[in-house]
Amino acid sequence: MKNAKLKIRKYPDQILKKKCEEVKEVNEEIKKLIFYMIDTMKKSDGVGISAPQVGISQRIIIVTTENGPKGFINPKIMEKSKITEVGQEGCLSLPGIFLNIKRAKEVKIEAVEDSGKKIYLKAQGLIARIFQHEIDHLDGVLFVGRADFWQRLKIKNKLKNLENQFSKS
Ligand code: CO
Repeated sequence: MKNAKLKIRKYPDQILKKKCEEVKEVNEEIKKLIFYMIDTMKKSDGVGISAPQVGISQRIIIVTTENGPKGFINPKIMEKSKITEVGQEGCLSLPGIFLNIKRAKEVKIEAVEDSGKKIYLKAQGLIARIFQHEIDHLDGVLFVGRADFWQRLKIKNKLKNLENQFSKS
């Protein structure tokens, strides 16, 4: 597999607004998709990516963990810490846009690995942030939607530019 880079869907592509479907069975196709998603994310210098961003409306995400990029199927946030943290986020589907977003500092996640095994894990800080950002994608939520009014005002023109580029492509 020489060139595994998938096309990244950019804002305001409608697929990014859709709620994704649960994965029913972890088969070879899903494993291959995860492989391609990891490759695409790395080649785009991302730290996370979700299936809808490559045009597939299924509940699959890639998160860069302490052990490197890993695929998570049907991920769910089971618990969120009340303590929050503000940190800068960007998104491969919104190139050139970076905003400070408030997220839970710690999350407990339930997911299925690409081996088909159900796992539970705890994440903190940046990794917790990536999980929250990517799981949002599966529900059709973009990080700009989590920013406050003043931050959104600042990027209004950048969003307009992306909309213009999209309608021309
Ligand atoms: Co994103």
